[in-house]
Amino acid sequence: MIRDLTDDQARAALPLKWGAVAPGVIPAWVAEMDYRPAEPIEEALVAAVRRGTAGYPAFGDAGLGAAFSGFAERHWGWPVPADATVPTGSVMAGIRLALELVCPPGPVVVPTPCYPPFRDAVAITGRELVPVPLDPDAETATMDLAEVEQAFAAGARTFLLCSPHNPLGRCWTREELTALADLARRYDVRVVSDEIHAPLTLPGATFTPYLTVDERAVVVTSASKSFNIPGVHGAQLVVLDPEDRARLLAAPIPAQNAWSVFGMIAGVAAWTDCDDWLAALVDRFDDQRSRLTDLLATHLPDARMRPLEATYLAWLDLRTYGIADPAGVALEHGVRLGPGSDYQPGLEGHVRVNLATSPERLESIVHRLATAVATSAP
Ligand SMILES: Cc1ncc(COP(=O)(O)O)c(C=O)c1O
Repeated sequence: MIRDLTDDQARAALPLKWGAVAPGVIPAWVAEMDYRPAEPIEEALVAAVRRGTAGYPAFGDAGLGAAFSGFAERHWGWPVPADATVPTGSVMAGIRLALELVCPPGPVVVPTPCYPPFRDAVAITGRELVPVPLDPDAETATMDLAEVEQAFAAGARTFLLCSPHNPLGRCWTREELTALADLARRYDVRVVSDEIHAPLTLPGATFTPYLTVDERAVVVTSASKSFNIPGVHGAQLVVLDPEDRARLLAAPIPAQNAWSVFGMIAGVAAWTDCDDWLAALVDRFDDQRSRLTDLLATHLPDARMRPLEATYLAWLDLRTYGIADPAGVALEHGVRLGPGSDYQPGLEGHVRVNLATSPERLESIVHRLATAVATSAP
């Protein structure tokens, strides 16, 4: 069911991921998968193109909210109302809108390391970022709630959550999220929860939709990550409070980063018709996670991989090898990885590895990284 792309097909299908590397280099950096999208999505998009559907999207959400609500009920037992969805162009555009239109002014708390555009979203909305480090050495890499409370007490009014977490692969427990929600309520803090990776929760972990513990939050999500369709440009804010929703729906055209008609069509198909494909994808990632663990044990025994609970992005701590920029040396040996310093400026010795590829490529990725480390270690 998961259709792997050959190198040539991947270069044509994924212009950013594969176009940004020289021929022969394996790209395992940006979060895109080396697989074709699910067939129901391809069919819906092809049918739309054949109909000549390439106009402005209609007013309203074109059924995206109802489709998402069916998905949320089936996968997480979450009865989110269909009218809670406000469409937007991308998750990052949605986060920006939430910060500007719903969240009060004041500093924004962001657990770090973080997805790099989180820093940009905070900066372009004129807010101060308050980083709260997630201890990567702790087994759970949990949030330090005492530090979060300190930030709230000092005036922070927004918490930007990534749930599940990119790049650490954490799937926050209900207890962790409830504790955060209690603090947010006490200090009148708005939580914006980016849940784009939620459908990619792996066996052994359970995803908790943040709105089920904090009704005042704003969730931003999209089918784009789990179904490998970021190019069609469609995402959604999910908001339970009618006044917040009205503010978001009233965003003027230049502010709202309008979605595309293809984004809505593909999103509806993904949330409605692709459960079997998603189950096969999660199985593939479960296998790739074991494969990567075994490969590391053989070829890079001193690497520490964070337990991967969700996402297809593994976080490796390579500090014991004494190389400040392992992604830099890996690129010289034919594999492009995400440098840890992209996610936390100044952080040395870490890389993010995208395992959404074939078993063969994953083996080559680890072999090349191991050769890079062996030839560069002091
Ligand atoms: C946590 C997270 N949020 C947002 C995005 C980007 O989403 P979009 O392209 O819809 O802005 C990504 C992409 O990898 C991501 O990992």
